[in-house]
Amino acid sequence: MNVLVTGHLGYIGCVLTQLLIEHGHDVHGLDSDIYRNCTFVDCVPQVPYLNKDVRDITLDDVTGYDAIIHLAGLSNDPLGDYKPSLTDSINRKGSIRLAELAKAAGVPRFIFASSCSNYGAAGETFLDESAAFNPVTPYGESKVAVEKALLPLADDEFSPTFLRASTAYGVSPRLRFDLVVNNLTAWAFTTGRVYLKSDGTPWRPLVHVEDIARAYVATLEAPLEMVHARAFNVGQTSENYRISDIAEMVEDCVPNSKVEFSVDGGPDKRCYRVDCNLLSRTLHGFKPQWTVERGIRQLYEKYVEVGLKMEDFEGARFQRIAHVKHLISSNILNEEMRWIA
Ligand SMILES: NC(=O)c1ccc[n+]([C@@H]2O[C@H](COP(=O)([O-])OP(=O)(O)OC[C@H]3O[C@@H](n4cnc5c(N)ncnc54)[C@H](O)[C@@H]3O)[C@@H](O)[C@H]2O)c1
Repeated sequence: MNVLVTGHLGYIGCVLTQLLIEHGHDVHGLDSDIYRNCTFVDCVPQVPYLNKDVRDITLDDVTGYDAIIHLAGLSNDPLGDYKPSLTDSINRKGSIRLAELAKAAGVPRFIFASSCSNYGAAGETFLDESAAFNPVTPYGESKVAVEKALLPLADDEFSPTFLRASTAYGVSPRLRFDLVVNNLTAWAFTTGRVYLKSDGTPWRPLVHVEDIARAYVATLEAPLEMVHARAFNVGQTSENYRISDIAEMVEDCVPNSKVEFSVDGGPDKRCYRVDCNLLSRTLHGFKPQWTVERGIRQLYEKYVEVGLKMEDFEGARFQRIAHVKHLISSNILNEEMRWIA
């Protein structure tokens, strides 16, 4: 298929683009490349791409594709909180406009990077795709708003699908250290402390970045009627953990490391356990292959290989919000998160 991937230069986008190429798809990218100086492993996939902001896309940019996979945007809670009006214009308005243009251009498939953050503050119960939305952050609100706005666009010619991914972990050419498993493993390796900034009680569903990519490819290749106007949680039901469970797994994997709680680590409102069975029940092509335990080993081995230092991962290079603030304070991006030069 001829596929446009927005955000193809991001943490998930790099891994997904590579997998799409391996599956024989013709991939084009679109990304404003905010994290151009944040490459962790030098194998970002090379595909033809438009260096463009999603807010500026035109009909021409989306014409001629069999599918659009839309990942670009402000991709976690700290970024979403930074300036909620910006989250609204990039994540909500930008995504809705992109989908409307895709429909007008006759692109039949539109796969949206939604999130389990839609469930927000939910507690102990396992939530499937029919659960109520309860987002607690501007980021989560933007994802819910896009799902609600895109559903009425679905018809015989246009099929939106919403992939609500769990929290990602694992190695990618654009690895991020603001993700809990990647971060705790980095703390353990570089300092011997598995340093928890919250009280560790919230539940979180976790999924390896490669399994997210597999979910996108399986959705793209599925018969249209199976994914038309549907939402799927992405992960594994058995891979929901409390943050403190993850810390213990890191302690077990990384030699000479010890769990430590920050003195001012408060509770975290975001807490949800997610039932992820629908996607693999519906699409036989989708089989997640990773567990958090194995992912921690993968990360640890990669950190050993590259000789990771604390200043690499706690600074502005690999933490997205710190990086964006650094670009703005250095007058490289403006307050609207557009390149100045
Ligand atoms: N990583 C996760 O745990 C996770 C979980 C659930 C959902 N998601 C969603 O998946 C998608 C990809 O996540 P990721 O972790 O790869 O994020 P990322 O931040 O690593 O990548 C996002 C990409 O989008 C680009 N981008 C940002 N704003 C843009 C704009 N205005 N115009 C054009 N490009 C822009 C960035 O340059 C970057 O390459 C996001 O929509 C995110 O919300 C991620």
